[in-house]
Amino acid sequence: MKEQLEAIRKQALADFAAAGDAAGLDALRVKYLGKKGELTALLKQMGKLSPEERPVMGQLANTVRADLEAALESRAGELEEIALEQRLKDEALDITIPGKAPKLGRRHPMYQALDEIKDIFISMGFTVLDGPEVELAEYNFDRLNADEGHPSRDWSDTFYFDEDSRVMLRSQTSPMQVRAMDSMELPIRIIAPGRVYRKDEVDATHSPMFHQVEGMVIDKGVTMADLKGTLNTVVEKLYGKGTKTRFRPHHFPFTEPSCEMDVQCHKCGGVGCPTCKGEGWIELLGAGMIHPKVLKMSGIDPEVYSGWAFGIGLERTAMRRFKIADLRLIFENDVRFLEQF
Ligand code: PHE
Repeated sequence: MKEQLEAIRKQALADFAAAGDAAGLDALRVKYLGKKGELTALLKQMGKLSPEERPVMGQLANTVRADLEAALESRAGELEEIALEQRLKDEALDITIPGKAPKLGRRHPMYQALDEIKDIFISMGFTVLDGPEVELAEYNFDRLNADEGHPSRDWSDTFYFDEDSRVMLRSQTSPMQVRAMDSMELPIRIIAPGRVYRKDEVDATHSPMFHQVEGMVIDKGVTMADLKGTLNTVVEKLYGKGTKTRFRPHHFPFTEPSCEMDVQCHKCGGVGCPTCKGEGWIELLGAGMIHPKVLKMSGIDPEVYSGWAFGIGLERTAMRRFKIADLRLIFENDVRFLEQF
């Protein structure tokens, strides 16, 4: 019996050491120490021993049981540690692997230019207005002193919604002058950015839809000098200190006198190059002193109040600001283009 006990101890210890996981180890515990286990089975035969042998074997059996229990416990501890190691390894996060950068969108270059323009005017006390793109011809033309015969009222130039040419897609942001005069208290200082529509074919400098920013000031004693001073300040802020401007006489039905403002070419500094088509100057906006008739139609006394207005092409401003050569790039929204700003 002593040999059998020793044999069980030896085999059990070897089996415990070889157990690969907690479940396997538990099966071995049952196999050796369980109610129907090998050690228990052996102990049941104690009765067959002589009275002298019985206590000796009893003691040995207890020692073997104690040894096996201790070995079980220590192996269980080892297995737990191994399992933890493995889990840590499996769940490890390699923070040295380069991450996947989320693709962030960015502000469209034209809206960047608009934001700059808005900031400049807001800092000078202007209010930013928004207005309808589907406009009444009354605001787009009549109230701006463009009478029935005016060429831009022609169906070949303007998108109308009705046979009578009363409802249209606005062809300029200037109707916002009238809407401001109708709805605001004097004095007025506003800008009004937005889309405008004309029947133009798409090319490098034209699109049937483009953006303008209207600007208007009405107060007592406002003169052309205020207009020039304001626009010169804006141009220097947009394009850098010392940027030269030039005002040329022009005609608009709703301003008198009217002018167009050019900016000295950023490419050649005014000498003449392909960018400015040899002119040395690039046309940027139309402007003028608000026609007394327009003020009167809005119930403002031109003997007391005067004002100026301008309309600037936003695409053109952005193209100059970011040195973009083709208007179509602004609208195509190719990510490879947009990513550059
Ligand atoms: N509305 C004019 C245009 O589209 C520009 C303009 C605005 C001119 C305000 C004078 C005053 O060409």
